Amino acid sequence: MTVDVAVVGGGVIGFAVAWRCAQRGLSVTVFDHQPAAPEQRASQVAAGMLGPVSEAYFGEADLTALLVASAAQWAGFATELAPFGDVGYRTDGTLVVALTADDHAEAARLWTYQESLGLPMTVLGAAALREREPALHPRVRGGALAGDYQADPRRLLRALRAAAAAAGVRVVDRRLSAPELSELDAATVVVAAGCGSAALTGLPVRPVKGQVLRLRAPDGEPGFRHVIRGWADGRRVYLVPRTAGSGGEVVVGATEEELTDAVPTAGATLELLRAAVDLVPSVAEHAVAELCVGHRPGTPDNAPILGRLSDRLVVATGHYRHGILLAPVTADTIAELVATGETPELIAPFTPARFRAGGDGARS
Ligand code: GLY
Repeated sequence: MTVDVAVVGGGVIGFAVAWRCAQRGLSVTVFDHQPAAPEQRASQVAAGMLGPVSEAYFGEADLTALLVASAAQWAGFATELAPFGDVGYRTDGTLVVALTADDHAEAARLWTYQESLGLPMTVLGAAALREREPALHPRVRGGALAGDYQADPRRLLRALRAAAAAAGVRVVDRRLSAPELSELDAATVVVAAGCGSAALTGLPVRPVKGQVLRLRAPDGEPGFRHVIRGWADGRRVYLVPRTAGSGGEVVVGATEEELTDAVPTAGATLELLRAAVDLVPSVAEHAVAELCVGHRPGTPDNAPILGRLSDRLVVATGHYRHGILLAPVTADTIAELVATGETPELIAPFTPARFRAGGDGARS
């Protein structure tokens, strides 16, 4: 059957794009091959931090602008999805903390930069931090409150699937190869296949292994309410407390390894837990519920690849550390591109052309 849009990839990005396309009256099929280990899908492993402020890094001005734009859409996105499920959107804010003087010196450079961009970021001393979040270790030297939020990626994927189904999106369980893309009976093919996008398009998307733990509090309450991101004796870690009703889940992450295997290692688990307990001692009492390994779809410039690759082929991939945050803006802009043929201004810096012959592969 001919459809307007075939979306290849059934993660958060794929279903968000499919949903928005269907809302514009387009007929849509998602090709959602279930991996052998579905729990390793990036959307299942992701912690769900929505961090345009704390992930604003030197030299990534275009990306920061995109993260900020998508963060601004998140409240509406969560509300629109609410009939299909609570996506765990929480606005308690993020505390970015430093344990030692050396950690503080490193972190402070970044906070100064983030403040200079006018992002919502307030530097706090140790006493103010602990007043805001008593669960923090008394040794924590200082930190900052960032206007960064969170959502629960697993709930989000369920809600998006339901919303897409309600909008008429069909789902086919089939893994496609690159030659099969050209045989699809669709006016437009959108590749949103995360790490699988490289083999389908030839674009430079590589897997970046992330090991993540899911802990559960014995009394069903995480014991703290902010997302906590920190430096602890040179180790980086984040702790994401879920809402009441989640069984007291705390997500602790994550490694960043240029590896393709999916093996959780003792060393990584030790380092993550040591850093987490150094910052929030009470998590030492939590049960270890899951060790998850996923692969972020990384790109040479850490930014996503969004736009037209050929007359019929559009890509929405390479979201690296930001897939959950960037879901709303990706879905809206890709649906607009598919429906109108025009590339929205916001995603112009992220076109695949930057990685094709003649593209210089570099952005400001
Ligand atoms: N966004 C968090 C991570 O990639 O680990």
